[in-house]
Amino acid sequence: MFRIEFMQRALYLAERGKGFVSPNPMVGCVIVKDGRIIGEGWHKRFGEAHAEVNAVLDAESRGFSLENSDVYVSLEPCSHFGKTPPCAKLLIDKKVKRVFISCLDPNPLVAGNGVNMLKNVGVEVSYGFLEDKAKRLNRFFFYHIKHKLPYVILKLATTLDGFIADKNGSSKWITNENSRREVHRIRSEVDAVVVGSGTVMADNPSLTVRLVKGRNPKKVVVDFNGKLEGDYNVFDKNCFLITLKGALSEEKKGFYAQKGVKLIEIEKPDVELMLKELYKNNIASLLVEGGSGIAGMFVESGLVNEIMLFVAPKFLGEGKRAFNLSKSFTIEDPLKFDANDGFLRFVLRS
Ligand SMILES: NC(=O)c1ccc[n+]([C@@H]2O[C@H](COP(=O)([O-])OP(=O)(O)OC[C@H]3O[C@@H](n4cnc5c(N)ncnc54)[C@H](OP(=O)(O)O)[C@@H]3O)[C@@H](O)[C@H]2O)c1
Repeated sequence: MFRIEFMQRALYLAERGKGFVSPNPMVGCVIVKDGRIIGEGWHKRFGEAHAEVNAVLDAESRGFSLENSDVYVSLEPCSHFGKTPPCAKLLIDKKVKRVFISCLDPNPLVAGNGVNMLKNVGVEVSYGFLEDKAKRLNRFFFYHIKHKLPYVILKLATTLDGFIADKNGSSKWITNENSRREVHRIRSEVDAVVVGSGTVMADNPSLTVRLVKGRNPKKVVVDFNGKLEGDYNVFDKNCFLITLKGALSEEKKGFYAQKGVKLIEIEKPDVELMLKELYKNNIASLLVEGGSGIAGMFVESGLVNEIMLFVAPKFLGEGKRAFNLSKSFTIEDPLKFDANDGFLRFVLRS
C-alpha cells in the first residue's frame, strides 16, 4: 500500500542536495519493507551517486535485502548510462516489488523509459504523488531541460515609492537583516548571481554567501562597453565578465586573465544571448541582483521566471528607480510580467 509520508520523506531528503547537484535535479529515495524504512538516500553532489544508489547502499549496509521492497523516489529512476549506470536496472537487479514515483523525468534521455524498463520485467510502478511539490522543488531543472536556458530569478529591494537607491546612488540598508539573509539563502541555491557595471561601481559587492550557511555561487558582471576600471571585490576565478566584442583593450583583457575572470564576449547587448552563453558554461539558474539597467533589460526580454521584490516601508522622494526600461508604455498597453513557467512573489519587509 502506498503511504504518503514515505514520499514526503523522499522529497525532504531530495532537498538536502540543494545547491550542490545542478544542473542535475535534486532527488530523494526511501526504501520500505514491512511498513518501515530500511534505507534512504539522496543525490548529494553533481557527478556522484544517484539517490537510489545511496538508498540501496544504506539498506544493504544495515544488512537488509531489497527483495520485495517498496521504493519511493521523488523523480523517475534513470534508464541510461550517464555518469552512473541506470538506477532502474539497479532496482530490477535488487528484485524490488513496487516503485512509487513523484514525477516523471522530463530529460528526453529518460522521459518514461525508466518506468517502462521497470514495468517490462514485472515491477509494479505508479507515479504522480505530490507531483506539484516535486516540480516546484526542481523548477530550475524542469525549466532548463525544456528551454536550454538558465532559470532566472530577479531580486530587487525597493522603497515604497519604488526606488532601489537614493539620489546619491547609495542602496545600502534599504531592507533589513532578515531580507538580506533571505537573499544570501537564494544565492546559495542558484548557480550564479548577476549584477551590472553600475552596481559594481556604486556598491563594490562581493556577492558571496555570508549570512547563512551555504556555498558561494559563481558571479557574473555585465559590462557591455568595458566601463569598469581597476579592481573590484567580484573579480576572481569564480567570476564571468560579459562584454561586447571589441569593448576591452588588450591591457584590460590581460588584467582580467590574471585575476582568473572568464570573459564572455557577445555581439550585441541581448539577454537571450547572455543566457545562452551562461548555459553553455553550466549555469542553469541565475539570481539577477540589479541594478535598474540590468533589471530593465531582463524584464524586457521576457526571460525572467520569478521576481522577488523586497519592499521596505520607507520613502525616498527621488533616486534610482527599480527598472530602467528602454521605452515607456501606456496603461492600456503596458509591458506585462509573464512568469514564463515561473512564479511571482512579493516580500514586504522593513
Ligand atoms: N536596492 C537594490 O536591490 C539594488 C540592487 C542592485 C543595485 N542597486 C543600485 O542600483 C544602482 C546601479 O544601477 P544602474 O542601473 O546604474 O546600473 P546596473 O544596472 O548595475 O548596470 C548597468 C548595466 O546595464 C546595462 N544596461 C542595459 N540597458 C540599460 C539601460 N536602459 N540603462 C542603464 N543600463 C543599461 C549597462 O550597459 P552598458 O555596459 O552599455 O553601460 C550596464 O552593463 C546603484 O546605485 C546600486 O546601488 C540597488
